[in-house]
Amino acid sequence: MENTVLVTGATGVLGREVLERIRRSGVPVRALTRRSRLPEDPGVEWFTGDLVTGAGLDEAVGGVRTVIHCASDVRHFKQDIPALRNLIAAARQAGVEHLVNISIVGVDRIPYPYYQVKLEGERLLEASGLGWSNLRATQFPELLNTAFGVLSRLPVVLVPAGTDCQPVDQGEVADRLVELAMGAPAGRAPDMAGPRVYSMSRLARDWLRAAGRRRPVLAVHVPGRIGSGFRAALTAPDRAVGRRTWEQYLAEKVAR
Ligand SMILES: NC(=O)c1ccc[n+]([C@@H]2O[C@H](COP(=O)([O-])OP(=O)(O)OC[C@H]3O[C@@H](n4cnc5c(N)ncnc54)[C@H](OP(=O)(O)O)[C@@H]3O)[C@@H](O)[C@H]2O)c1
Repeated sequence: MENTVLVTGATGVLGREVLERIRRSGVPVRALTRRSRLPEDPGVEWFTGDLVTGAGLDEAVGGVRTVIHCASDVRHFKQDIPALRNLIAAARQAGVEHLVNISIVGVDRIPYPYYQVKLEGERLLEASGLGWSNLRATQFPELLNTAFGVLSRLPVVLVPAGTDCQPVDQGEVADRLVELAMGAPAGRAPDMAGPRVYSMSRLARDWLRAAGRRRPVLAVHVPGRIGSGFRAALTAPDRAVGRRTWEQYLAEKVAR
């Protein structure tokens, strides 16, 4: 079987970076989206499909050896579980050899509902009967950019107090996912975090300065186990393997 790779979530922040890297490598690549109007994209075979309903999945997965699963629906995150179940079933049926999954640093220590779903996804992967690799990464700068864009619509930017974050470039995470996909199933890969740890207040102030917006930043204590989980477990300082800094991201993507 030719090594054809399918990327789910290929229109998303991470998935499009993964897709681009595989396209450039010359390995045959497919991309999945729910959109019915498919992009004109030389070197990529696009498929319309919905992981939650299962529509179009068998066609997309048939003949594929490796799947890189970057799809997620944060707004309806509970559906990520039936989505992954459907993907695993279709992959098993098609004889897929390797399913590569992206997860988040701290999902086993922070009882935030979206993270609990990510953790359940990891468990499904482990029990899938497929060859698998799982990479936990810290937050992408693109996510912080979107979050601060929304938060700065208010007169005061609220951030969680005492909470650190270690942004990692989504392109570098894509590099690592592609590296994992091209190798043998690795199980749980070492976590991936960005080069530096920052307080959320500092990230917000940096972003506001780069975006040219004047707002006070107010750090608010988040009570309960979710708050303490975020304070304790969002970073991985011993896994600061990313190179591209938050400052570089701001200079290239946010600064006016
Ligand atoms: N953002 C972060 O900081 C971060 C950090 C660590 C890990 N991660 C993980 O990385 C992954 C990707 O995150 P992201 O920020 O790139 O997400 P994103 O930009 O929101 O993209 C999500 C993608 O999922 C696809 N999708 C959603 N529901 C689908 C469904 N039912 N069927 C098929 N495709 C579906 C969407 O494609 P269409 O709309 O085209 O169908 C979209 O391309 C997630 O698993 C996330 O947990 C994110």
